[in-house]
Amino acid sequence: MKYPLIAPSVLSADFADIASALELVRSSGSDWIHLDVMDGHFVPPITFGTKMVADIRSRSSLPLDVHLMTADPERLVPAFADAGADLVTFHAEACVHGHRAIQTIRECGKKAGISIVPSTPVAAILELLPFVDLVLVMTVNPGYGGQTLLPFCLKKIRELKSLRQSLKLDFLISADGGIGLQTIAEVAEAGPEVLVVGSAFFGASDQAAFVGEMRGAYAKKAVC
Ligand code: DX5
Ligand code: ZN
Repeated sequence: MKYPLIAPSVLSADFADIASALELVRSSGSDWIHLDVMDGHFVPPITFGTKMVADIRSRSSLPLDVHLMTADPERLVPAFADAGADLVTFHAEACVHGHRAIQTIRECGKKAGISIVPSTPVAAILELLPFVDLVLVMTVNPGYGGQTLLPFCLKKIRELKSLRQSLKLDFLISADGGIGLQTIAEVAEAGPEVLVVGSAFFGASDQAAFVGEMRGAYAKKAVC
């Protein structure tokens, strides 16, 4: 089975030893690397910028899934594209001109994603669904790793799947926040294709075994 794609978030890695984190991701059989860019405005913390993305790019051949939790994301897109992002996701809440931001990402030759925080309904991005490659549903309030999944967000994944079918679209759905062995069953029942996993991945004692268990648990529950 092709899905789920596992996208470890290096937010929960040791930033002073990022090379070891990348090796853990590679050897675990994960599919993507999820990179959480935070600017201290859209969310309180500041994480890293384009140099970190470029340095990771030079050490990994996995697709880089850049999640911009920043104000004014459109302005930042070209620099993150140049740094080596494969997919650039921005927040609907941070951007008035979402369609233009998607066009900018596409003009940079990258795949475009849009994300919604827990308080934003799917209806807020309805008009943009035909133009995106990925919808990232936040299952915690963005800004921090290690939070508890908010189950009410999972119904948005179901809603997106239903819209994707009725509108004959083909974007991927990603879930981000609070995902691990404790929550994989309820997440899999909603059925996103991409699982972003931060603290549960880096906190596991054996990352390859963890990824295998996550895939196994997803396969048992998924209603794809
Ligand atoms: C949170 C980030 C997530 C974070 C998830 O704002 O977008 O990608 O790394 O971390 P966990 O899996 O620990 O909830
Ligand atoms: Zn993220």
